Parts: sequence; structure tokens; C-alpha cells
Amino acid sequence: MAERPGRLEGKVAIVTGAGSRGPGVGNGKATAVLFAREGASVLLVDAQIERADETLAMIEAEGGVASTFQADVTNEDDCKAMVEAAVERHGRLDVLDNNVGIGLGPPVTEIDMDEWDRVQNTNVRSMVLTSRHAIPRMIQTGGGSIINISSGAGIAAIGAAAYTTSKAAVIGLTIAMAGDHGRQGIRINCVAPGLVFTPMVADMMDADLRQHRRNSTMLGTEGTAWDVGNAALFLASEDARWITGQVLSVDAGMSVTSRHAYQEW
Ligand SMILES: NC(=O)c1ccc[n+]([C@@H]2O[C@H](COP(=O)([O-])OP(=O)(O)OC[C@H]3O[C@@H](n4cnc5c(N)ncnc54)[C@H](O)[C@@H]3O)[C@@H](O)[C@H]2O)c1
Repeated sequence: MAERPGRLEGKVAIVTGAGSRGPGVGNGKATAVLFAREGASVLLVDAQIERADETLAMIEAEGGVASTFQADVTNEDDCKAMVEAAVERHGRLDVLDNNVGIGLGPPVTEIDMDEWDRVQNTNVRSMVLTSRHAIPRMIQTGGGSIINISSGAGIAAIGAAAYTTSKAAVIGLTIAMAGDHGRQGIRINCVAPGLVFTPMVADMMDADLRQHRRNSTMLGTEGTAWDVGNAALFLASEDARWITGQVLSVDAGMSVTSRHAYQEW
């Protein structure tokens, strides 16, 4: 039987935050690897280029096509250059995975307002900056797909006001952008990861907390970056051709679980 073509064959994708902050595989890294496995050429964007280099090594070891690009997505010149690099190196732009996100933070009564601004700028404003340069390029080739990484924290309090505010804004931005650019053939969706175990949270976890997190989901299991990456892959692909403006929770049902409902499991 003939081999099935990859779900992103011939496509060019940008993943922002394509490295991981620590050992292991984070959401951006997993997404980039999965995109490449499905045939996309991937521009691996990270402020810390050595982190993107690690992802490049993983992709090249599997025979995939990718290249790295150093950019701070809070800087508009960097975002513009990032999009131009994708087109110059790989020929076009079809998919943008806006994965960069930072921060937790104290209540509004205590938060330093510079820190508040840094979280909003990194998590929300950056997505405006990357998208406003990516969208015209996608229009040139008939459309594309943008995936914005929100969080379960965008629809529920987790004790991190700045982060929750930013991740809720990502959902609003996604809906607004989907409405504005649908007729140009651009689908824009959100992935809202739940309590996945990644380098981003590994330092805050011990075995008890990880078990508590498992227990707070319907499935009673822990998620990984690959679960988030697979959701982004689906939304990037033609399998999702009629899906836009949506929030896909990847959280083992946590967002629709009553608190403590499954604690005894
Ligand atoms: N891990 C979780 O439990 C979890 C849960 C919900 C949502 N998320 C979301 O997933 C996304 C990140 O996942 P990850 O696992 O890839 O995180 P990560 O922190 O491991 O990796 C993100 C990469 O982004 C880079 N980066 C940070 N700021 C940047 C900037 N201004 N410009 C360019 N690059 C920058 C970092 O250098 C890092 O390599 C975030 O949006 C986060 O809010 C994570």
C-alpha cells in the first residue's frame, strides 16, 4: 500500500517558543516535532537560540526539515523578520503556532505593574505582532491556520491574576481574529492546555502534587506536551478545515469537572 502523505505535506509552519526552558519536551518543542513529522517545513523561533537548536536536532534526527530563528516575539521588528525568514527560507507560510507564554504571579493587590505589563505583552500583544505580519503572507497563498496557545487558566482561577487575564485575552483575540480573517481563508483557533507535565511546571512539582493534578481530571491521568502538540497539529491540518474561532481544551476533562469530584479515584 502506498504511504499516506503527511497531514502538513508541503506546508510551512512557524512555531514560537519552539525550544523548552528545561530538560524534556515542552509544548512548543513537541508541536514543532509533530508538524515536521507530518511533512511541514518548520521555522523554530525562540528568544534563546540554543533552545531552538535542541528542537532542530530532534527534527533532523528524524529526517524532518526545519531551521532556527532567534526572535523576541514582544518586538515587532523581530516578528516581521521571523515571517520574512520563513518565506525566504521555505517559500511560503501556512501555519503559525503562537506558543510563547510566561508567568504566574500574585493577586492584583500585590502584583508589580511592570510585571503585569510584561505578562500581558509576552502572552497577548506578541500574538498580535506575529499575526499581523503572518496573515498577509498567508493570504498570498490562499489562506492558513493560526493556533494560539491559551490555558485552562484562561477560563478558571488558579491564583495567578496576570496569567489568567492574559490567557482569557488570548481566547478573545482568537475569536476576534477568526471573525476578521475567515473570509480570507484563515482559520484561527485556541488550544487551552490543562495540567500537562512540561519543563515549564516541572520545578514546581513533587510526586504528591502530580498525583493531585491527575486526580482533578476525569481521566485521572497526566497530560504531556505531545497531547498539546497533537491538538495543534489537528487544528493546523486540513482535518480542521471547517473549524475556526474555537477553544480546544486539552485537559482530560478538567475544565468541565466539578472541583474534588474525582479526588477519591
Ligand atoms: N506547561 C503547562 O502546564 C501549560 C499549561 C497551560 C498552558 N501552557 C502554555 O504553553 C505555552 C508554553 O509551553 P512550553 O511548554 O513550550 O513552554 P517553555 O517555557 O518550556 O518554552 C517556551 C519557549 O519560549 C521561549 N520564549 C519565552 N519568551 C519568549 C519571547 N519573548 N520570544 C521568543 N521566545 C520566547 C523560551 O525561551 C522557551 O524556550 C505557554 O503559552 C504556556 O502558557 C502551558
